[in-house]
Amino acid sequence: MIKLTAQGHTCFTLETDQHSLIFDPWLAENPEAAISVDEVEVDALLVSHGHSDHLGDAIEIARRLGRPIIAPYELCMYCERNGAEVVPMHLGGGRDLDFGRVQLTQATHGSAVIHDDFIEYTGPACGFLVTLGENTVYYAGDTGLFGDMELIGQRADIDVAILPIGDNFTMGPDDAVKAAQMLNPKMVVPMHYSAFEVIQQNPEAFSDQLAGLGIDCTVLRPGEQMEFA
Ligand code: NI
Ligand code: MN
Repeated sequence: MIKLTAQGHTCFTLETDQHSLIFDPWLAENPEAAISVDEVEVDALLVSHGHSDHLGDAIEIARRLGRPIIAPYELCMYCERNGAEVVPMHLGGGRDLDFGRVQLTQATHGSAVIHDDFIEYTGPACGFLVTLGENTVYYAGDTGLFGDMELIGQRADIDVAILPIGDNFTMGPDDAVKAAQMLNPKMVVPMHYSAFEVIQQNPEAFSDQLAGLGIDCTVLRPGEQMEFA
């Protein structure tokens, strides 16, 4: 049994009996965070890109727990320089780790840490395919629609696909529907649709649109969780 919990915006935790992971732990400044930075207890942190609403509190959490940040190489070098343990990977590459397998996927998006007086490049943005036992989760990260989602769907038997629907910075709902059709997951979970004014979307309307195409969708508000096996 795997438990997926929405922690607000694009932060999710994924737990099995033995292991737990967190995606994009933006918490302290996140208006809808369902857990605090100090409450996070995980085996590893998966960070899709350097934007502040994704890298968030990852370095602080990684340092406190002595657990690694898994991310594209350039972002890992940034995190390592700031005192975190890292597992540097890159797009298309997979790796077997203690808890399961991680593969980095393409995401059509930027990645940088924005400082007051300069912008620090942190490589390309990514998504993640995470396989725990028999189950595979596709966490798309911040991305627009791209045709190779079809290939990802053909190559991986996806149980849950976590997709952005906010528009403006990522896919909007209509493109996310097309993404879901290409990925062919058993379940879709929307993200990135409520934390900022400019990305406000109605996830229930998105879910209804998918239902009309025979695709299952679960809307998880911050703090809500679903289980699958
Ligand atoms: Ni971003
Ligand atoms: Mn974002």
